[in-house]
Amino acid sequence: MCTVRVLILILTLAVLHAQPATLREAADQRPLLIGAAANADEYGMANRLNEPQYASTLAAQFNMLEAENAMKWSSIHPSQSTYNFGPGDKLVAFAEAHGMKVRGHNLLWHSNNPDWVNTYAKTATPAQMSAVLEDHIKTVVVHYKGKVFAWDVVNEAIPDNPSGAGTPLRDSIWYNQPGIGQTGTGYVEQAFRWAHEADPNALLFYNEYSIEGPGAKFDAMLNMLKDFVARGVPIHGVGFQMHIDTNGYPSSAGLAQNIQKVTALGLQVHFTELDVRIRVSNGTASAADLQSQAATYQRVTTVCLQNPGCTAIQTWGFTDKYSWIPGFFSGFGAALPFDASYQAKPAVGAMIDAMQTVAPVLSGSAVVNAASYAAGAVAPGEIVTLFNVNYGPPSILEAVFDGSVLSSNLGSTRVFFDGIPAPFIYALVGQSSVVVPYAVAGKQDTVMQYEYNGVRSNSVTIPVVPSAPGIFSLNQSGTGPGATLNQDYSVNSAANPVAAGGAVQVFATGGGTIVGGATDGAVATGAGAQTLNVTATVGGLPARVLYAGPAPQLVNGVLQVNVEIPQGLSGPQPLAINVDGRPSQPGITVAVR
Ligand code: G3I
Repeated sequence: MCTVRVLILILTLAVLHAQPATLREAADQRPLLIGAAANADEYGMANRLNEPQYASTLAAQFNMLEAENAMKWSSIHPSQSTYNFGPGDKLVAFAEAHGMKVRGHNLLWHSNNPDWVNTYAKTATPAQMSAVLEDHIKTVVVHYKGKVFAWDVVNEAIPDNPSGAGTPLRDSIWYNQPGIGQTGTGYVEQAFRWAHEADPNALLFYNEYSIEGPGAKFDAMLNMLKDFVARGVPIHGVGFQMHIDTNGYPSSAGLAQNIQKVTALGLQVHFTELDVRIRVSNGTASAADLQSQAATYQRVTTVCLQNPGCTAIQTWGFTDKYSWIPGFFSGFGAALPFDASYQAKPAVGAMIDAMQTVAPVLSGSAVVNAASYAAGAVAPGEIVTLFNVNYGPPSILEAVFDGSVLSSNLGSTRVFFDGIPAPFIYALVGQSSVVVPYAVAGKQDTVMQYEYNGVRSNSVTIPVVPSAPGIFSLNQSGTGPGATLNQDYSVNSAANPVAAGGAVQVFATGGGTIVGGATDGAVATGAGAQTLNVTATVGGLPARVLYAGPAPQLVNGVLQVNVEIPQGLSGPQPLAINVDGRPSQPGITVAVR
């Protein structure tokens, strides 16, 4: 039996490490959204989804798609009283049939508006334009509610040569010709608010070109974003269109800097319209230019993966058979990852290689106490959570035993403290939890590193403290009712309070070392004692500590403190512990009868 198990494990690991054959397989391993703009039968053209190679390549290579044109005003709202959802619905149906996410594009643009609305704008009042725009946004977003997970709400509202921070926006029927009765960025904000009302769960993006590198246009956009975020406008991300060539724009440093400035606002970045145009002769590009194109695809893919918060890379089409480039950039073409016969170009292997080799990013500030979410330092045996690491198991993996201890290699994920792999509580891209090895005790700091699929992150140095107590909360928020048990082992709550004079079992972590030592990842077989002094308060009053040590039958690192409730208290009372002078987080309560 054991041999079979080992064999299965090896095979599983082997599968994890196999070179992915498609962009989608490589992206799913990160995970990363890898998308392509796609077409159905909008504008009356033949339904491209009925073209076998078009459909098979789209489904095999991408985990996301976006309507290139089918959801634009000119296609979806051809007359004031008519909505044409057919082509968009075909794309959504295709995506759902192939487990793909759908981006929507776009709800408001200065271009590609149908004739009727351009004519209407010539005589309409701003109030009338506002009514038309609100009806459109809400009708379209409600139609695709729960099907389109992210919208390009407003496309290209910043002019190409803005005059500065207070830049006027690009002229359009929605802004000032005649506009919808808003000033400044008000019409942009209003569009986001209507979209959010229509689908509160959809991610709402502002989409723009020529903002991928530093410059006045990016600065003008950033000013608008900062104002929106500061005032709580429902915006969740920015689309960097990424219509580029092989001449180096945007530089990797400039692109990274702009991504970071946007994600620093708490917004995501999606590369929404990536294509890398190269010179063609009769539609054919040279081998050298194809290699240069591949290097550019690899370079920008790398920058996205190196910057947590950059969560999607989408190409604008995917086959050179259908691309806007040749018609717009004379002498250029062959801009997409697959050629006109749907064969992978060097760009595909280059993007896969980036997804296989770009190291995950570990940030010291994203290593927090698993109970209190307090960052800054770690203690021996502390259960910590690592957030924002952008490369890891796409679905949560719960702790498993490796012999008598919790495994320190979960789904090809490992977390090292001074080279010692830490036992896992769970592993998941963006949020994993491990137990800090007791070997850090007595050190000033520890060097942390994360590894997934054999690729190691940067190292971060984290201060070590003897204790960093955090009490687990019932709702995992780090505050509110504590995860505490009454003496009869029932969960303490307002409906099930403890009597004053009674006692509760408080569960925490960050209590530091254990008398007699403790094995990393082992289950506490029975009672023990913390090395450091543990005190407690309830309702601000000193409370007698009846026990402070490992929690029997739970992994070493869980601190159990049995606390007697002082007399004279009732109702929800602040609960805190203190280990060697370091307090647990504020905001935890215990219910007293
Ligand atoms: O093929 C039909 C034709 O049968 C029909 O009679 C005619 C009626 O207008 O439309 C034709 O479709 C054209 C369509 O491209 C398919 O080729 C549309 O005219 C034409 O307007 C449309 O252009 C699109 C352009 O946006 C304007 O909407 C391009 O495909 C599309 O790639 C381009 O994409 C934009 C993004 O939305 C925003 N960022 C820039 C990007 C490139 O311009």
